[in-house]
Amino acid sequence: MRRAMFEAPVGDEQLGEDPSVNQLVETVAEVLGKPAAVFLPSGTMCNEIALALHCRPGDEFYCDRTAHPLHAEAGGPAALAGAQARPIDGERGIYTAQELEAALSPLSRYAPAPRLVWVEQTANLAGGTIWSHGDISAVTEVARANGLLAHLDGARLFNATVATGERPSSVVAPFDSVWVDFSKGLGAPVGAALAGDDDFIDEAWRLKQRLGGSMRQAGVLAAAASYALAHHVDRLADDHARARRLAEALAEVDGIDLDPATVQTNIVIFGVTGRIRATAFLDHLLEKHAVRGSLAGPGRARFVTHLDLDDEDIDTAVDAVRAVMDDLG
Ligand SMILES: Cc1ncc(COP(=O)(O)O)c(C=O)c1O
Repeated sequence: MRRAMFEAPVGDEQLGEDPSVNQLVETVAEVLGKPAAVFLPSGTMCNEIALALHCRPGDEFYCDRTAHPLHAEAGGPAALAGAQARPIDGERGIYTAQELEAALSPLSRYAPAPRLVWVEQTANLAGGTIWSHGDISAVTEVARANGLLAHLDGARLFNATVATGERPSSVVAPFDSVWVDFSKGLGAPVGAALAGDDDFIDEAWRLKQRLGGSMRQAGVLAAAASYALAHHVDRLADDHARARRLAEALAEVDGIDLDPATVQTNIVIFGVTGRIRATAFLDHLLEKHAVRGSLAGPGRARFVTHLDLDDEDIDTAVDAVRAVMDDLG
């Protein structure tokens, strides 16, 4: 990846003259089966631009209560789009067509105008769960029947498609906009790409400029993303296998509450039970054993497997968790 970055031909990205960026967005549009795509610095910017283009201030969008923009985009939906979220209490990040229908605001001048249905693939804070083809068809049909748009936060779309064997383009076909992240599991240092039809991407460029996301010789970054797409997608299966092995071992540790059957991709979320606080557990794990996890709600911790981890690291993490539970318990 570093070599690809070093050797990348570059130009002025703002002017559409960076060949490595142009090549990347063409590939992304093709993989996702959409007419066009734009390279952006982050997934957060993809979400926020999509939201601002789809919604007018005061419009309502429908998402699971664990959706990323509700928790980790610094209030962006309210601050940037002025859109109002209607969180749905789905099951492990996945809500049904019936739950969506029940959540829709009535068409009335008293109510916010329903505008956008939001799906997150995989559902991060719900534990990397996969929206199946049927789940997606059901909610996007409700969207269409009610004249709403549909957006896919595809931060981990490739984790889902590697796990299910589906083609990315068929998963994202019912969505008006979709993006994929090159950092996270794919291992590039920076970047994401937002895709949709030509008019949508033209307008996305206006917001990219407004938010300061237009770049210059961004080809060095695009080359990393292209390398990740070519070399790091299929290997996500290794991360999934390691996550499953990690979950099976953790489930055996006293004080850890985890059903390994719930682990579908590379995210493992578990309860830290008894008198041990999850925050103390995570601090101890990092300080004493150099194993990093994150908090996933009260009493819950989250581990993610990725391309810098091998089988030995999984054993190290499990041993560290056992040691911490012994120490603190
Ligand atoms: C589901 C989801 N959406 C959006 C983002 C934001 O992506 P980025 O970190 O590239 O801004 C993340 C990051 O963790 C995520 O998990």
